[in-house]
Order: sequence, then C-alpha cells, then structure tokens
Amino acid sequence: MAQKWTPDGWRGKPIRQLPDYPDEAALAAVEATLRNYPPLVFAGEARRLKQSLAAVAGGRAFLLQGGDCAESFAEFHPNNIRDTFRVLLQMAVVLTYGAACPVVKVSRMAGQFAKPRSADEETQNGVTLPAYRGDIVNGMEFTAAARTPDPRRMLQAFSQAAATLNLLRAFAQGGYADLHRVHSWNQGFVAESPAGGRYQELADRLTETLDFMAACGLTSETTPQIRETDLFTSHEALLLPYEQALTRIDSTSGDWYDCSAHMLWIGDRTRQADGAHVEFLRGVKNPIGLKCGPSLDPADLLRLIDILNPENEPGRLTLIARMGADKVEAKLPALIRAVAREGRKVVWCCDPMHGNTVTSSVGYKTRSVDRVLAEVKGFFAVHDAEGSYAGGVHFEMTGQDVTECIGGAQAITETSLGDRYHTHCDPRLNASQALELAFLIAEALKKKRVGEVRRRAAIAS
Ligand code: PEP
Ligand code: CO
Repeated sequence: MAQKWTPDGWRGKPIRQLPDYPDEAALAAVEATLRNYPPLVFAGEARRLKQSLAAVAGGRAFLLQGGDCAESFAEFHPNNIRDTFRVLLQMAVVLTYGAACPVVKVSRMAGQFAKPRSADEETQNGVTLPAYRGDIVNGMEFTAAARTPDPRRMLQAFSQAAATLNLLRAFAQGGYADLHRVHSWNQGFVAESPAGGRYQELADRLTETLDFMAACGLTSETTPQIRETDLFTSHEALLLPYEQALTRIDSTSGDWYDCSAHMLWIGDRTRQADGAHVEFLRGVKNPIGLKCGPSLDPADLLRLIDILNPENEPGRLTLIARMGADKVEAKLPALIRAVAREGRKVVWCCDPMHGNTVTSSVGYKTRSVDRVLAEVKGFFAVHDAEGSYAGGVHFEMTGQDVTECIGGAQAITETSLGDRYHTHCDPRLNASQALELAFLIAEALKKKRVGEVRRRAAIAS
C-alpha cells in the first residue's frame, strides 16, 4: 500500500541539489507569498495533456518537447519567446507532415529555470563560490553576492513564467498559430538556411492543401484546429520549495496538481526511488517525465514506475531516454524489454542532448549536431528492433541564431562557437539546426509509416 501523500512529504526524505539558502526566514516568507499567488496552469489543462500523451503511448501521436536549457532573466524578451514558439511550430508542421499523425507540443518554457549541477561549488583563480543553479536560485556572475541563493528570485521567476505563459497562450490561440500563416513562421536567418528552403516548399504544399480544404468548406472560421493550436509547458521539478508552493487541490477532482506547469519531469540526478523529488512527484496528478540516463538499470526503472504510475495510467509517465549516442544501443533495449515484459504503459521519448555534451578545445560546453542525430537514429533503431513505439523527441533549442552546437548545414565549427554563445547552461540547437533535425526525424517517421502501409497491404493480398 502506498504511503499517504502530502505536498510537504518530500521534506522528510533525502534530497539532492537543494540550494543552501542562508536566510531561512526569507525563504519561508517567499513560500508563503507564492502559496497565495494564482496557479499558472489549470488542472483541466494538465488532464488534457495527459490524454494527448495517452495517444502517444498508444502509438497514435508523436511528442515534440523543446525549448531552453535554462530560461534566464537577462534573455527575457517577447521576441525570444516568439522566436522559440515559432520554431516549435515549424518543427511540429514538419513532423506532422512526415508522421501523418498529431504532434503534441510541449515547451521547456515558462518555468524552466532551476538547474542541477554536478558540483556544489565552483573555483576560479583560487576563489571558491557556490555553483550557479539557474536564475531562480542565484546569479551567474562569479561574485559572492550573486552566487548566494536568494529566495526572492523565485518571485521574479514566477512573474516571468506568468508573462511568458500569457504570451504563449495569446500566440497559440489568438491567430499567430493559424496554419494559413505557415509561411510567415519562416523568418530571418532560418529562412536563408537550407532547412528554411525545404520548409518553404512544404509550406507551399500545405497552403495548396488549405485552399483545397477551404473549397470544401473547412476554413479558419469553421475549423478551430486550423486556427489555433495547443502548446503545453513543462520544466524539471527541481526546486521543490517553489513547486510545493504552487501545488493546489483541483476543485473538480479533489486531486493535487502542481500548477507551475502542465508537465513536470524528474532529472537524471534526482531520480532516487527513496529521494525527495520522486516523493513529491508521485503525489501530483500532472503528466510527468522521468529522465533515464545510462546508469539506470531495468530493476530500478520498474521500481520507479511502480511508485510514479501505480495505476498504469497511459499518458501519466513519459520516459525520456538520454543515453548518449555511443550508449543508446547498448543501454536502451534492456529498459524497453523490462517495461514491455511488465506491460507498463509509457511514452518513450528521446533526449539526444544531455548524453552528448562535451567541452571544446577552447573551453565551451558544446554538442555536435551529428552526435545528436546519431542518438535519435539509434533510439529509432532500437525501438524498431524491439517492436516498441518511439514516441517523441526532447530538444534544447532556441529561436535565436546562436552558435552553441557544432555542425549542421550552417557548419558551425569549434572556432566559431564564441561568436554568439549565449546559453546560461547547456548548448542549444539554434533554430535552423532544430528545423534540420525535424526534417531528418520526419523522414524516419515517414519511412516507417510507408513500410507499415506496405506490410499491411502485403498481408492483405
Ligand atoms: C535538462 O534537461 O536540462 C537536464 C539537466 O537533464 P538531465 O537531468 O537529463 O541531465
Ligand atoms: Co540542459
């Protein structure tokens, strides 16, 4: 029998990655303030996402999750929000076309602030200070003042998340995402890139299709699916004082929901079965994710699934594999087999970013687009061989023309990394690299779909 759950039950469990707040009274005051703030999302929306993810678990839809590694106070600007949203829309169109199935769009935005770190401290020129843990905790600048965890940053993060979500809702529902605008999403440096050129051709075909549909009476006015889209939010539920303060009882169902985002995930560093993060997330009814790195063995995974999804509800749990291109083929099959053997209903999603981070010769943290793609390919190949459904992808990306990942058609090299390296944490794909990857994934999905249609036709004849 599962233990009774309360929103503060995590406080009695071993916890990793919790900042050391020097002023406990200030922390308690901020938590009290946040508890009175309105929820950012509604339980009904989280349930709708869960239903969409249940379709992914059943092989009838595909998940696209993406956005910043870490949102920052400095990069907070409507244009940045718009540009990331736009690339997500472009990628979704490309994937919908390739997979010929609905694409569930989940952003890493409006709350993706807190970062886990491999070391608690950082030393520069003989000076040791607390590590930077994301703008919701402390500042990146290497001074004692900036690096001291300040709980008031949670209030600023909340207000940034609220404003970001407000704009995303307006974009998604207010006409910007209307499929008739598919050409206008191709802007700036993306439009000039090879992927942008391919996108232009696809947008032309889509516009012809929309003209045909209009002739049949299906227009933006008659068909909300053409006029608007659903974009959900997600982030790593790492900073538990913040998450707890935004956790509320839903009046409709009487269940607890973490109303800081539609979907929350547990990071690879905080997925201990007896730890605080697992304890917290087991009790909220949102759809949740679990990062699965190479150190996770099948028995531990099954134990975590038992805790996090005891009712085996499809759409509740997304397993986000982040093995690294060189490990995915060795590590993933055993996990997939264990899940299949036990009949667990999950979404399998591929994060090809976090297992492929390297430090360049000049000291930048970077990732190669080729390795990212290799992991995605490996993920699809393993699922093909196991007869399971490769349900989605999870990217760190931005709408900006940054130079943080190496390669792609723009051929960013080690020496050009310094040109526009802006990330507050991990290197992100820029918009044209992200779109390029969407095309490659769409091709893989299409090949699979055509293969299946042919196989069924052969069986039928
Ligand atoms: C992340 O998604 O930003 C992250 C830190 O991932 P992981 O927990 O998989 O390392
Ligand atoms: Co990251």
